[in-house]
Amino acid sequence: MQIIRNRQTLIDAITEQKKSNKTIGFVPTMGFLHEGHMTLVSHARKENNCVVMSVFVNPTQFGPNEDFDAYPRDEAHDAKFAEASGVDILFIPTVEEMYPAELATKLHVEKRVSVLDGADREGHFDGVVTVLTKLFHLVSPDNAYFGQKDAQQVAVVSGLVDDYFFPVNLRVIATVREQDGLAKSSRNVYLSDLERKEAPVIHAALTLGRNLIEAGETNESKIIQQMTAKINEQTAHEKIAYLAIYSYPEFTQVTDWTKGIIIAAAVKYSKARLIDNELINVKRR
Ligand code: PAJ
Repeated sequence: MQIIRNRQTLIDAITEQKKSNKTIGFVPTMGFLHEGHMTLVSHARKENNCVVMSVFVNPTQFGPNEDFDAYPRDEAHDAKFAEASGVDILFIPTVEEMYPAELATKLHVEKRVSVLDGADREGHFDGVVTVLTKLFHLVSPDNAYFGQKDAQQVAVVSGLVDDYFFPVNLRVIATVREQDGLAKSSRNVYLSDLERKEAPVIHAALTLGRNLIEAGETNESKIIQQMTAKINEQTAHEKIAYLAIYSYPEFTQVTDWTKGIIIAAAVKYSKARLIDNELINVKRR
């Protein structure tokens, strides 16, 4: 595995791969790698000749009061983990390398962001599309791999790719969970013992919502109320940041319960805010 920190070196390495007609699979991450990331790599490994991963904690997607400084980082672990997962090129740029100058042109997401993390984390998705635009240009991947855990991110990125004709195929991979159902996340290390013990309730509540909908329930407030009660059976969390049901991928109010639906949750613990979701009537492998 080659570790690259510099933009031009990365472009040269990719050009070299493309000369021999190799397909590029790209897995963008913010590091502190876990099995969720590794699963994206294993799909990329199967579907491409060359796998590129980026590890970059992107400052523009964090709000001023969010955890940019505290976001967990461990480059040595990431390098080992990436190599063992089958990454060929690991790109670890500095902030200066990715943002060498103040941006003269800013990207702003218009649709699919008025709810959930888009509403709760102002500017977050503008930062995500900004860094992905830069990364897609540097890596020029054939396929790029994203986790369904961040379902709104997937919807926003597919808008970016469609709007601006990025010649990349988005691949969406199912959420990888701990044995007790908690979605794997780099932020799980910030849970206290009690919070970690209780956090699987997020997935349990989403599953309850899924079961109610699949059994024919269409009274949204009744579903939300039951999911809220489920989460609040536990006491360690600070608050439920949101618990909501929308059409997917539009993120508008559900009118047809037979079409794509997302149930999404964000729960705030003392040092971590965790998100998770369930998709219903959406075919993914
Ligand atoms: P990060 O949170 O590091 O996640 C990188 C990728 O791994 C995302 O596509 C995310 O959905 C996926 N992922 C995380 N946990 C997962 C899990 N438990 N199961 C399956 N996939 C999982 O998302 C970002 O970084 C950033 O916003 C980024 C896209 C890199 C832009 O900065």
